[in-house]
Amino acid sequence: MFSGKTEELIRRLRRAQIAGQKTEIFKPAIDNRYSETEIVSHSEFRISSRVVSHSKEIMLHSQNADVVGIDEAQFFDEGIVDVCESLANNGKRVIVAGLDLDFRGKPFGPMPQLLAVAEYVTKTLAVCMKSGLPASRTQRIAPGTDLIDVGHTNKYEARHRAFFEPPKDV
Ligand code: ADP
Ligand code: TMP
Ligand code: MG
Repeated sequence: MFSGKTEELIRRLRRAQIAGQKTEIFKPAIDNRYSETEIVSHSEFRISSRVVSHSKEIMLHSQNADVVGIDEAQFFDEGIVDVCESLANNGKRVIVAGLDLDFRGKPFGPMPQLLAVAEYVTKTLAVCMKSGLPASRTQRIAPGTDLIDVGHTNKYEARHRAFFEPPKDV
């Protein structure tokens, strides 16, 4: 978390819009962190989005799009992989942002499959809150062992791998 995934997604989508391409932008309903409707980065960059509960809805609403943007992909059902493949096979540019590792340091939801089928993968890193080193892991600093727990600095901290402490017994 905090590595700039959402900022980068918004930057790419804005450039597509400047180029006159038709964009369709999605986020999962579960992500109500900063806004119910917009995609918002931790730095408050924002862009309008369509809120969906299932990957099938992305397919339904993307038929006329040139570029499809999806944030928080880790929260989607496994069907999102086929949806992205099908859209890309139909000539659309599909830009997906998602968190690769959960609070245990394990692959998060459909992210491994999405990473595998993508032509291009950009891995962004945050700044470790313990060391100032590049951070690829997310430390949950709030209690709780549920896989999904929406939050920001109130619950999570970016950590370099050497400063990440995996939770015990989860
Ligand atoms: P992500 O979607 O990867 O969680 P965002 O694009 O929403 O990240 O936000 C990135 C922004 O978060 C940075 O530009 C910076 O302003 C802010 N930020 C807060 N904490 C950190 C951190 N530990 N490391 C880097 N950026 C941070
Ligand atoms: P972000 O990477 O764009 O900051 O968003 C990650 C979201 O995922 C944020 O709402 C917190 C949530 N999250 C979980 O639900 N479980 C986890 O294990 C982790 C690390 C994050
Ligand atoms: Mg984000």
